Amino acid sequence: MTVLSISAQDTRSSHQVAFAAVNAAFGSIGRVCMALDGDFRVRHVSAELDRLLGEGSAGRLLGEPIEQLLGPELFGSDGPVRQALLAGEKREGWRALLHGAHGARLLSVTAAPLMHDPHGVCDPTARYLLVLRPADEEGVEGVGAEAAGTFVAPGLVYRSPSMSRVLRLVESLQHSETSVLITGESGSGKEVIARTIHAHSPRRNGPFVAVNVAALPGELLESELFGHVRGAFTGATRDRAGRFAAAAQGTLFLDEVGDLPLHLQVKLLRVLQEHAYERVGDDETRRTDARIIAATNRDLRKAVADGTFREDLYYRLRVFPLEIPPLRERREDIEPVARLLLSRVGARAGRALRFSPDALRAMLSYSWPGNVRELENALEFAVTVSRGQTLQPEDLPPEVVTARPPELAAAREPPRSLPPVQDERSTLLAALEANRWSRCDTARALGLSRSTLWRRMRALGLEPRTRSRPVVSSGGGDASGGDQRGGCSSGGPAAG
Ligand SMILES: Nc1ncnc2c1ncn2[C@@H]1O[C@H](COP(=O)(O)OP(=O)(O)OP(=O)(O)O)[C@@H](O)[C@H]1O
Ligand SMILES: [Mg+2]
Repeated sequence: MTVLSISAQDTRSSHQVAFAAVNAAFGSIGRVCMALDGDFRVRHVSAELDRLLGEGSAGRLLGEPIEQLLGPELFGSDGPVRQALLAGEKREGWRALLHGAHGARLLSVTAAPLMHDPHGVCDPTARYLLVLRPADEEGVEGVGAEAAGTFVAPGLVYRSPSMSRVLRLVESLQHSETSVLITGESGSGKEVIARTIHAHSPRRNGPFVAVNVAALPGELLESELFGHVRGAFTGATRDRAGRFAAAAQGTLFLDEVGDLPLHLQVKLLRVLQEHAYERVGDDETRRTDARIIAATNRDLRKAVADGTFREDLYYRLRVFPLEIPPLRERREDIEPVARLLLSRVGARAGRALRFSPDALRAMLSYSWPGNVRELENALEFAVTVSRGQTLQPEDLPPEVVTARPPELAAAREPPRSLPPVQDERSTLLAALEANRWSRCDTARALGLSRSTLWRRMRALGLEPRTRSRPVVSSGGGDASGGDQRGGCSSGGPAAG
């Protein structure tokens, strides 16, 4: 490209020429290109941005923090893309929803540390390169735009086609006030989806009020939801408005709605049908316009069949049903969600952390019965126990590390004497016995890397059998070295 051969007299203009050339190249394939300085402020931006967001958008952005355009979720101080760039890493396919003169536009963001040219033509203050493209283009990265790594709402990331479908349904609710019933396993992200629906609804400027129905006993719950008047019951020393009133012009999120006692189900049904209710101990009928989003991890259809949930209420709530798939059924989401949560958890601890490939592999192999919440807790744990900047498998809770990859678990019978995974030592011991102390076979059976298996064996005091060759052949520093370098002859006795 000619730009690289410019002999610069005036460095300022040569930098501009260089960027113009880069711009033209990216513009030819419909991409917007930007360069950021070390403080994540926009140094250069191509005029292509005007085409996406309206006249003057590019000019207004110069000198501004990129966070202003692409949001704190990606570029705030603990934003995962900022963190990645600071760590010298590249990120591809993140999504940002931008609002411009032509309405909202979903963009895909690629970000990388800028590698400078040997001739000094690149602006030396430009540290990072961003490339944006409309995310509605087809065939990107071979999986379709929706599946390429997404960031549509604050606090929500996904990459899986199944979550793309959920988000498309959420998008279709944008102009609607209908009741929504969100179902999904515990920790799968029901509340975060409820918040997203609210944030994109005509009520986005009103309050989002969340009530966990399961957390309160019936009497307290009634007054919590509908309010009470003074003297309605012992301890009711003054009037209370309740959550339906608090959610006026906004959204009331009823979490664990399957736990609502039958007498309150009647009251809720009336609110849904007539928007009317009475406070506890009061005759006056009040009106509410709160939009209801309910969620449950219970099978409400079964509850209806069992007579513990009213059928009429069930159908009234599930005007628009949304099912959040469990994390194990959308494994593509594990990595982007884990990276986001790690940057969040790490930021709370004042640390910038990353995953080792083995730690990432262990997380991808685990079934996450507690879904995203369990993943978040596992990372809290890992951040607490880890010492360095890179999380290792042994920093993760034991059940995550000793789990076998789902494909292996499905394909093979478990070793005869494999006990429950809770007891890591006996799990490892049994697996080692079953595989005649071959670390190679044992690691494969457990879905661990050999180095991780070896580290866990050492941590748990599981010494190799006497007939094995000495295992620590690499010297004290790197416990994994000997094992990783050694060949892995399957079925051999005590691979060392
Ligand atoms: N796709 C996602 N991207 C990022 N964070 C997520 C995602 N899904 C869930 N989380 C996070 O995981 C945690 C659990 O999510 P949430 O509270 O929405 O789940 P839930 O289904 O309501 O859980 P519970 O059944 O325990 O009430 C929250 O901290 C949330 O921010
Ligand atoms: Mg919840």
